[in-house]
Amino acid sequence: AGTGPLAGRRALVTSGPTHEPIDPVRFIANRSSGKQGHAIASALAALGAEVTLVSGPVTLPDPPGVTTVHVESAEAMLAACRAALPVDVAVCAAAVADWRVADAADQKRKKQPGQDTMALTLTQNPDILATLSRPGEGRPMLVVGFAAETERVIEQAREKRDRKGCDWILANDVSATSGTFGGDANTVHLITADGEDAWPVLSKAEVGQRLAARIAETLGGEA
Ligand code: C5P
Repeated sequence: AGTGPLAGRRALVTSGPTHEPIDPVRFIANRSSGKQGHAIASALAALGAEVTLVSGPVTLPDPPGVTTVHVESAEAMLAACRAALPVDVAVCAAAVADWRVADAADQKRKKQPGQDTMALTLTQNPDILATLSRPGEGRPMLVVGFAAETERVIEQAREKRDRKGCDWILANDVSATSGTFGGDANTVHLITADGEDAWPVLSKAEVGQRLAARIAETLGGEA
């Protein structure tokens, strides 16, 4: 068992992109690096929490002192999250694909002679943050989500908090000029039921530490 302000507390963190298969050799993906989610998992572990990190495909090493579960698709990420329950706090930092291919092929899709276009039908993926936030037995005491926005950042993050049913939202500015995607720094606001906190521009490691400290203040050690 760890020592520190979160000793005895269990945490779940999602991180990275998801890959949604088109066929056995192709997938739909996004540009999430996983840096922020991995940093949060490390920071929670550093404060003594027992952390499960459910990560989509990333090039980062598994953080030491954390149990990392590797997944590819959104559906697999949700299943791994459910398997990690119960937890005291869940932080959803993964960039989960909104859509998956409705009829992913078992065999490699072939281009037909004379074929000029190809249509994919997409179907909605489960919303992991909203699922974990659903009231009821087994809901984590604290559920934290991210809102990556390019405009009206705080306003949209507050709407997202209401819609998903989570407790806190870290709103981050991912407009092209912010350098957040793949970069090392993050500009965030912490949105809670009571209000919002503007954080200075911090490294992703520092955002993780600050969030973990705030979680520790709220939860404390094992009751
Ligand atoms: O709706 P949007 O993708 O902007 O919401 C972002 C937040 O929701 C992030 O915390 C992300 O991890 C989470 N999310 C999720 N499952 C999805 C979509 C988003 O957990 N299918």
